[in-house]
Amino acid sequence: MATLFTGIKQLLTFAGDLSPRAGAAMRETGLVKNAAVLVEGGVIEAAGPRAAVARHRLAKKARVVETGGICLPGFVDSHTHMVFAEPRLKDFSMRTAGATYQQIKAAGGGIISSIGAVRGQALKPMAAQLARRAARFLECGTTTAEVKSGYGLSLDSELKMLRAVRDAKKLTPLELLPTLLAAHSVPPEFNGDARKYLDYVTAEILPKAAAEKLAVFADIFCEKGYFTPEQTTAYLKEAARLGLRPKVHSEQLSNYGGTRAGAAAGAVSADHADHVYAEDIAAMRDAGTIAALLPASNYYLGLNKFPPARELIAEGVPVALATDFNPGTCPCWNMQFVLSVACTHCAMTPEEALCAATVNGAWALGIGDRCGAVIPGLQADLAFFDADDYRELAYYFGGNQCSLTVKKGRIVHAKK
Ligand code: NIG
Ligand code: FE
Repeated sequence: MATLFTGIKQLLTFAGDLSPRAGAAMRETGLVKNAAVLVEGGVIEAAGPRAAVARHRLAKKARVVETGGICLPGFVDSHTHMVFAEPRLKDFSMRTAGATYQQIKAAGGGIISSIGAVRGQALKPMAAQLARRAARFLECGTTTAEVKSGYGLSLDSELKMLRAVRDAKKLTPLELLPTLLAAHSVPPEFNGDARKYLDYVTAEILPKAAAEKLAVFADIFCEKGYFTPEQTTAYLKEAARLGLRPKVHSEQLSNYGGTRAGAAAGAVSADHADHVYAEDIAAMRDAGTIAALLPASNYYLGLNKFPPARELIAEGVPVALATDFNPGTCPCWNMQFVLSVACTHCAMTPEEALCAATVNGAWALGIGDRCGAVIPGLQADLAFFDADDYRELAYYFGGNQCSLTVKKGRIVHAKK
């Protein structure tokens, strides 16, 4: 049976080409006032002015849901580390006392301090915990999220994290796309030998994750003290050869060359991009690599520096926004907060931020041809908000304005 979501004050369709949006196109929201969206079989049948949609042949017998408010494509969160066993409260206390990312790492905190509990957690509770977290994303209007491994850093526990994503898919309607991030940090048993660890990842973990089809993407943290640009290109090329699409954590803490290394390997997105220079930006644009910005992590780390969104947009790089939800640098699952930080600290317009959180987020996951916009034929992934004007989504912050979330045509969250 079809469903008609109607009485929408403002619908942002992002109608346009099925391609990543760059430059001025990021500001084209496809706004329709007094709108409706007609959905059947998990797919958008029609979207536009209420009166026009009401004339559609399926509208007559449709179930009618009077939503009011604002309707957007469901948020596509293209960068999360949603599988972890425990929060890192010790890191948090150190940070509030003034310690930096590098100082926390040197004191035994950071990424490595998450591996003990992850290695010790069984698959079933890990998947159940992930599904509980997924519910929080859905409540905030996110309908698709990428999920990285990277806190196991051994064959068994990296595969366990990816299997948890696979199993959680049966427990939550949030669409989850898994990424192998075994190259997140060098685990203690390798005594700081990044080359040796990466050889192990390449020989043991990567082929198994690919053969079992446990991951869609492969990611690597390219940074001083982690993995070099040369290692990054070689590793990502090997991942691509095995069928995993490359992604990279790059230019987060310094300008180190990871963005260019990722672009050279055909990365679908280069993430963070805090310290990119002109040549990194040109490399992304020329390779068709999306810049996935994660400004909520800059906020949380108390940094004054934020990713240069204006420069990236001016140079024609499609920009996506994601949470980076993780236990160390960004314990935030709410894309609405990311909109706020992007507008207030990266000088993005609300229109650009919303495009980056939906259409371009979908392209950062290579799925923009089936979701991320409210266009007939695409997946019916929608998020509704209690507001009169879409700019309120970036204007108010710290709360959750989402009233209704629809995944593949089904209501998966409704505010009580
Ligand atoms: O995106 N930079 C590397 N990875 C994460 C941090 C993960 C963690 O601290 O646990 C990030 O910020
Ligand atoms: Fe990350």
